[in-house]
Amino acid sequence: MASTITHTVKLNNGVEIPQLGFGVFRLEHGEEAEQGTLWALEAGYRHIDTAAAYRNEESVGRAVARSGIPRAEIFITTKVRDGDQGYATTKRACEESLRRLGTDFVDLYLIHWPNDARMADTWRAMQELREEGKCRALGVSNFTVKRLDFFFTLSDEAPTVNQVEFHPFNYDAAFLAYCGKKGIVAEAYSPLTRAQRLDDPTVGRLARAHGKTPAQILIRWNLQHGVITIPKSARQARIVENADVFDFELSAEQMAALDALSEGFFAITYRPENWY
Ligand SMILES: NC(=O)c1ccc[n+]([C@@H]2O[C@H](COP(=O)([O-])OP(=O)(O)OC[C@H]3O[C@@H](n4cnc5c(N)ncnc54)[C@H](OP(=O)(O)O)[C@@H]3O)[C@@H](O)[C@H]2O)c1
Repeated sequence: MASTITHTVKLNNGVEIPQLGFGVFRLEHGEEAEQGTLWALEAGYRHIDTAAAYRNEESVGRAVARSGIPRAEIFITTKVRDGDQGYATTKRACEESLRRLGTDFVDLYLIHWPNDARMADTWRAMQELREEGKCRALGVSNFTVKRLDFFFTLSDEAPTVNQVEFHPFNYDAAFLAYCGKKGIVAEAYSPLTRAQRLDDPTVGRLARAHGKTPAQILIRWNLQHGVITIPKSARQARIVENADVFDFELSAEQMAALDALSEGFFAITYRPENWY
Protein backbone atom coordinates (compact mmCIF):
# COMPACT_ATOMS: atom_id res chain seq x y z
CA MET A 1 0.00 0.00 0.00
CA ALA A 2 1.34 3.42 -0.97
CA SER A 3 2.52 5.11 2.21
CA THR A 4 4.74 7.91 0.91
CA ILE A 5 5.11 10.04 -2.20
CA THR A 6 8.22 8.07 -3.16
CA HIS A 7 6.37 4.73 -3.12
CA THR A 8 7.18 2.87 -6.33
CA VAL A 9 5.56 0.15 -8.39
CA LYS A 10 7.79 -2.42 -10.07
CA LEU A 11 7.23 -2.73 -13.81
CA ASN A 12 7.51 -6.05 -15.68
CA ASN A 13 11.12 -5.28 -16.66
CA GLY A 14 12.18 -4.49 -13.08
CA VAL A 15 12.14 -0.69 -13.46
CA GLU A 16 10.52 1.09 -10.50
CA ILE A 17 8.07 3.92 -11.15
CA PRO A 18 6.81 6.30 -8.45
CA GLN A 19 3.09 5.56 -8.13
CA LEU A 20 2.14 9.23 -7.85
CA GLY A 21 3.34 11.47 -10.65
CA PHE A 22 2.69 14.99 -11.90
CA GLY A 23 0.93 15.42 -15.26
CA VAL A 24 1.79 18.46 -17.35
CA PHE A 25 -0.76 18.38 -20.17
CA ARG A 26 -2.14 21.89 -20.75
CA LEU A 27 0.62 23.53 -18.73
CA GLU A 28 1.71 26.07 -21.26
CA HIS A 29 5.25 25.88 -22.60
CA GLY A 30 7.43 28.44 -20.80
CA GLU A 31 6.85 29.88 -17.35
CA GLU A 32 3.69 27.93 -16.51
CA ALA A 33 5.06 24.46 -17.29
CA GLU A 34 8.51 25.20 -15.85
CA GLN A 35 7.15 26.68 -12.62
CA GLY A 36 4.49 23.97 -12.25
CA THR A 37 7.08 21.22 -12.64
CA LEU A 38 9.38 22.96 -10.15
CA TRP A 39 6.56 23.25 -7.61
CA ALA A 40 5.85 19.55 -8.06
CA LEU A 41 9.49 18.62 -7.51
CA GLU A 42 9.62 20.90 -4.44
CA ALA A 43 6.47 19.18 -3.12
CA GLY A 44 8.24 15.83 -3.38
CA TYR A 45 6.92 14.42 -6.67
CA ARG A 46 9.64 12.43 -8.42
CA HIS A 47 7.69 11.45 -11.52
CA ILE A 48 6.75 13.84 -14.33
CA ASP A 49 4.45 12.86 -17.21
CA THR A 50 4.88 14.86 -20.42
CA ALA A 51 4.54 14.16 -24.17
CA ALA A 52 5.88 15.54 -27.41
CA ALA A 53 2.29 16.53 -28.19
CA TYR A 54 2.09 18.75 -25.07
CA ARG A 55 4.81 21.00 -26.49
CA ASN A 56 6.30 21.61 -23.06
CA GLU A 57 9.17 19.11 -22.86
CA GLU A 58 11.72 21.93 -22.91
CA SER A 59 10.08 23.57 -19.90
CA VAL A 60 10.03 20.27 -18.02
CA GLY A 61 13.71 19.78 -18.82
CA ARG A 62 14.55 23.26 -17.57
CA ALA A 63 12.65 22.67 -14.32
CA VAL A 64 14.45 19.38 -13.74
CA ALA A 65 17.80 21.10 -14.27
CA ARG A 66 16.86 24.07 -12.05
CA SER A 67 15.63 21.80 -9.26
CA GLY A 68 19.17 20.58 -8.56
CA ILE A 69 17.76 17.10 -7.97
CA PRO A 70 19.95 14.42 -9.58
CA ARG A 71 18.43 13.26 -12.86
CA ALA A 72 18.54 9.65 -11.69
CA GLU A 73 16.12 10.50 -8.87
CA ILE A 74 13.42 11.82 -11.21
CA PHE A 75 11.26 9.52 -13.33
CA ILE A 76 10.38 11.16 -16.66
CA THR A 77 7.77 9.83 -19.08
CA THR A 78 7.26 11.15 -22.59
CA LYS A 79 5.30 9.85 -25.58
CA VAL A 80 5.63 9.43 -29.33
CA ARG A 81 2.79 11.31 -30.97
CA ASP A 82 0.61 9.77 -33.63
CA GLY A 83 2.12 11.71 -36.52
CA ASP A 84 5.58 10.40 -35.62
CA GLN A 85 4.68 6.72 -35.47
CA GLY A 86 6.64 4.40 -37.76
CA TYR A 87 10.20 3.08 -37.52
CA ALA A 88 12.49 5.94 -38.60
CA THR A 89 10.09 8.64 -37.41
CA THR A 90 9.83 7.19 -33.91
CA LYS A 91 13.61 7.01 -33.65
CA ARG A 92 13.88 10.64 -34.67
CA ALA A 93 10.98 11.72 -32.44
CA CYS A 94 12.61 10.16 -29.39
CA GLU A 95 15.93 11.88 -30.11
CA GLU A 96 14.09 15.19 -30.43
CA SER A 97 12.24 14.63 -27.14
CA LEU A 98 15.56 13.86 -25.42
CA ARG A 99 17.09 17.02 -26.82
CA ARG A 100 14.13 19.15 -25.68
CA LEU A 101 14.15 17.52 -22.25
CA GLY A 102 17.92 17.99 -21.97
CA THR A 103 18.48 14.39 -20.94
CA ASP A 104 20.20 11.31 -22.36
CA PHE A 105 17.30 8.98 -21.56
CA VAL A 106 13.65 8.91 -20.53
CA ASP A 107 12.46 6.49 -17.91
CA LEU A 108 9.29 5.56 -19.79
CA TYR A 109 8.47 6.01 -23.47
CA LEU A 110 4.85 5.50 -24.53
CA ILE A 111 2.95 5.11 -27.78
CA HIS A 112 0.55 8.00 -27.20
CA TRP A 113 -2.36 6.62 -29.23
CA PRO A 114 -2.91 3.25 -30.91
CA ASN A 115 -2.20 3.20 -34.63
CA ASP A 116 -2.73 -0.32 -35.98
CA ALA A 117 -0.97 0.28 -39.28
CA ARG A 118 2.25 1.60 -37.73
CA MET A 119 2.24 -0.10 -34.33
CA ALA A 120 4.72 -2.87 -35.19
CA ASP A 121 7.30 -0.47 -36.66
CA THR A 122 6.87 2.01 -33.82
CA TRP A 123 7.35 -0.70 -31.20
CA ARG A 124 10.44 -2.13 -32.96
CA ALA A 125 11.98 1.35 -33.00
CA MET A 126 11.16 1.75 -29.31
CA GLN A 127 12.77 -1.58 -28.47
CA GLU A 128 15.94 -0.47 -30.27
CA LEU A 129 15.87 2.88 -28.46
CA ARG A 130 15.75 0.98 -25.20
CA GLU A 131 18.68 -1.23 -26.26
CA GLU A 132 20.58 1.99 -27.01
CA GLY A 133 19.90 3.21 -23.46
CA LYS A 134 17.57 6.01 -24.52
CA CYS A 135 14.49 4.68 -22.70
CA ARG A 136 14.42 2.49 -19.60
CA ALA A 137 10.89 1.14 -20.08
CA LEU A 138 8.35 1.04 -22.91
CA GLY A 139 4.59 1.28 -22.78
CA VAL A 140 1.38 2.30 -24.49
CA SER A 141 -1.46 4.70 -23.90
CA ASN A 142 -5.15 4.70 -24.78
CA PHE A 143 -5.10 0.98 -25.57
CA THR A 144 -8.39 -0.82 -24.91
CA VAL A 145 -8.45 -4.59 -24.39
CA LYS A 146 -9.17 -4.97 -28.12
CA ARG A 147 -6.12 -2.86 -29.03
CA LEU A 148 -3.96 -4.78 -26.55
CA ASP A 149 -5.13 -8.06 -28.07
CA PHE A 150 -4.06 -6.72 -31.45
CA PHE A 151 -0.75 -5.55 -29.99
CA PHE A 152 -0.02 -9.07 -28.75
CA THR A 153 -0.39 -10.40 -32.30
CA LEU A 154 2.65 -8.23 -33.10
CA SER A 155 4.83 -8.59 -30.02
CA ASP A 156 5.69 -11.22 -27.44
CA GLU A 157 6.93 -8.48 -25.14
CA ALA A 158 4.20 -6.87 -23.04
CA PRO A 159 4.20 -3.10 -22.59
CA THR A 160 5.17 -2.20 -19.03
CA VAL A 161 2.37 0.36 -18.71
CA ASN A 162 -0.94 1.26 -20.34
CA GLN A 163 -1.88 4.87 -19.60
CA VAL A 164 -5.63 5.43 -19.89
CA GLU A 165 -8.32 7.68 -18.46
CA PHE A 166 -9.24 6.12 -15.12
CA HIS A 167 -11.33 7.30 -12.18
CA PRO A 168 -14.43 6.01 -10.37
CA PHE A 169 -16.74 7.36 -13.07
CA ASN A 170 -15.32 5.02 -15.71
CA TYR A 171 -14.13 2.20 -13.44
CA ASP A 172 -13.73 -1.05 -15.37
CA ALA A 173 -12.68 -4.02 -13.24
CA ALA A 174 -12.36 -6.33 -16.26
CA PHE A 175 -9.90 -3.92 -17.91
CA LEU A 176 -7.73 -3.82 -14.77
CA ALA A 177 -7.84 -7.60 -14.49
CA TYR A 178 -6.79 -7.99 -18.15
CA CYS A 179 -3.83 -5.64 -17.66
CA GLY A 180 -2.84 -7.45 -14.48
CA LYS A 181 -2.96 -10.85 -16.19
CA LYS A 182 -0.69 -9.57 -18.96
CA GLY A 183 1.80 -7.99 -16.55
CA ILE A 184 0.87 -4.47 -17.63
CA VAL A 185 0.53 -1.78 -14.94
CA ALA A 186 -2.43 0.52 -15.51
CA GLU A 187 -1.71 4.23 -15.26
CA ALA A 188 -4.52 6.71 -14.65
CA TYR A 189 -4.71 9.92 -16.61
CA SER A 190 -7.35 12.57 -15.89
CA PRO A 191 -7.63 10.99 -12.42
CA LEU A 192 -9.52 14.08 -11.22
CA THR A 193 -12.01 13.84 -14.11
CA ARG A 194 -10.58 17.19 -15.18
CA ALA A 195 -12.52 18.57 -12.21
CA GLN A 196 -15.87 17.58 -13.77
CA ARG A 197 -17.03 15.21 -11.00
CA LEU A 198 -15.42 16.75 -7.90
CA ASP A 199 -18.87 17.78 -6.66
CA ASP A 200 -20.18 14.21 -6.64
CA PRO A 201 -22.10 13.58 -3.37
CA THR A 202 -20.42 10.23 -2.60
CA VAL A 203 -16.96 11.68 -3.15
CA GLY A 204 -17.96 14.65 -0.97
CA ARG A 205 -19.25 12.40 1.81
CA LEU A 206 -15.98 10.45 1.88
CA ALA A 207 -13.97 13.66 1.78
CA ARG A 208 -15.80 14.95 4.85
CA ALA A 209 -15.41 11.60 6.61
CA HIS A 210 -11.62 11.71 6.18
CA GLY A 211 -11.12 15.47 6.50
CA LYS A 212 -9.77 15.47 2.94
CA THR A 213 -10.74 17.13 -0.35
CA PRO A 214 -12.63 15.43 -3.21
CA ALA A 215 -9.45 15.49 -5.32
CA GLN A 216 -7.53 13.69 -2.57
CA ILE A 217 -10.26 11.02 -2.36
CA LEU A 218 -10.01 10.34 -6.11
CA ILE A 219 -6.21 10.14 -6.01
CA ARG A 220 -6.28 7.83 -3.00
CA TRP A 221 -8.83 5.59 -4.78
CA ASN A 222 -6.38 5.30 -7.70
CA LEU A 223 -3.49 4.45 -5.41
CA GLN A 224 -5.45 1.78 -3.55
CA HIS A 225 -6.38 0.18 -6.88
CA GLY A 226 -2.64 -0.19 -7.48
CA VAL A 227 -2.62 2.08 -10.51
CA ILE A 228 -0.10 4.80 -11.20
CA THR A 229 -1.73 8.22 -11.13
CA ILE A 230 -0.67 11.58 -12.54
CA PRO A 231 -2.93 14.48 -11.51
CA LYS A 232 -2.24 17.86 -13.07
CA SER A 233 -2.57 21.32 -11.61
CA ALA A 234 -1.16 24.70 -12.55
CA ARG A 235 -1.53 25.95 -8.95
CA GLN A 236 1.03 25.39 -6.22
CA ALA A 237 -1.50 24.86 -3.43
CA ARG A 238 -3.30 22.15 -5.41
CA ILE A 239 -0.04 20.48 -6.45
CA VAL A 240 0.77 20.19 -2.74
CA GLU A 241 -2.81 19.12 -1.89
CA ASN A 242 -2.80 16.37 -4.54
CA ALA A 243 0.33 14.86 -2.98
CA ASP A 244 -1.06 14.92 0.55
CA VAL A 245 -2.78 11.56 0.22
CA PHE A 246 -0.61 9.25 2.30
CA ASP A 247 -2.06 9.82 5.77
CA PHE A 248 -5.43 8.11 5.35
CA GLU A 249 -6.91 4.97 3.90
CA LEU A 250 -10.24 4.24 2.23
CA SER A 251 -11.97 1.19 3.70
CA ALA A 252 -13.08 -1.71 1.49
CA GLU A 253 -16.67 -0.39 1.73
CA GLN A 254 -15.56 3.11 0.73
CA MET A 255 -13.59 1.73 -2.22
CA ALA A 256 -16.67 -0.23 -3.30
CA ALA A 257 -18.87 2.87 -2.97
CA LEU A 258 -16.51 4.72 -5.31
CA ASP A 259 -16.28 1.76 -7.73
CA ALA A 260 -20.08 1.84 -7.93
CA LEU A 261 -20.01 5.40 -9.37
CA SER A 262 -18.96 4.01 -12.75
CA GLU A 263 -21.11 5.52 -15.49
CA GLY A 264 -18.85 5.32 -18.55
CA PHE A 265 -17.90 8.97 -18.17
CA PHE A 266 -14.82 10.24 -20.06
CA ALA A 267 -13.46 13.71 -19.42
CA ILE A 268 -11.34 13.82 -22.54
CA THR A 269 -13.10 14.89 -25.68
CA TYR A 270 -10.99 13.34 -28.45
CA ARG A 271 -11.60 9.60 -28.75
CA PRO A 272 -10.72 8.41 -32.25
CA GLU A 273 -12.59 5.40 -33.58
CA ASN A 274 -9.49 3.24 -33.77
CA TRP A 275 -9.15 3.12 -30.00
CA TYR A 276 -11.97 0.56 -29.96
N1 LIG B 1 -2.08 9.70 -22.54
C1 LIG B 1 -3.04 10.56 -22.82
O1 LIG B 1 -3.66 10.52 -23.89
C2 LIG B 1 -3.40 11.59 -21.78
C3 LIG B 1 -4.60 12.30 -21.91
C4 LIG B 1 -4.91 13.24 -20.93
C5 LIG B 1 -4.04 13.45 -19.86
N2 LIG B 1 -2.87 12.75 -19.77
C6 LIG B 1 -1.92 12.97 -18.65
O2 LIG B 1 -2.63 12.92 -17.41
C7 LIG B 1 -2.43 14.14 -16.70
C8 LIG B 1 -3.63 14.47 -15.84
O3 LIG B 1 -4.82 14.50 -16.60
P1 LIG B 1 -5.63 15.85 -16.96
O4 LIG B 1 -4.67 16.97 -16.93
O5 LIG B 1 -6.37 15.58 -18.21
O6 LIG B 1 -6.73 15.97 -15.83
P2 LIG B 1 -6.85 15.88 -14.22
O7 LIG B 1 -5.52 15.72 -13.59
O8 LIG B 1 -7.94 14.90 -13.96
O9 LIG B 1 -7.49 17.29 -13.87
C9 LIG B 1 -6.82 18.50 -14.03
C10 LIG B 1 -7.86 19.60 -13.75
O10 LIG B 1 -8.25 19.52 -12.36
C11 LIG B 1 -7.97 20.76 -11.72
N3 LIG B 1 -7.45 20.42 -10.40
C12 LIG B 1 -6.24 19.88 -10.10
N4 LIG B 1 -6.10 19.66 -8.78
C13 LIG B 1 -7.26 20.07 -8.22
C14 LIG B 1 -7.72 20.10 -6.90
N5 LIG B 1 -6.96 19.66 -5.88
N6 LIG B 1 -8.95 20.62 -6.65
C15 LIG B 1 -9.72 21.06 -7.66
N7 LIG B 1 -9.34 21.05 -8.96
C16 LIG B 1 -8.12 20.57 -9.23
C17 LIG B 1 -6.96 21.47 -12.60
O11 LIG B 1 -7.11 22.86 -12.55
P3 LIG B 1 -5.84 23.81 -12.20
O12 LIG B 1 -4.73 23.42 -13.14
O13 LIG B 1 -6.38 25.17 -12.44
O14 LIG B 1 -5.51 23.53 -10.76
C18 LIG B 1 -7.36 20.97 -13.99
O15 LIG B 1 -8.44 21.71 -14.50
C19 LIG B 1 -2.15 15.14 -17.82
O16 LIG B 1 -1.58 16.33 -17.33
C20 LIG B 1 -1.25 14.32 -18.71
O17 LIG B 1 0.07 14.27 -18.17
C21 LIG B 1 -2.55 11.81 -20.71
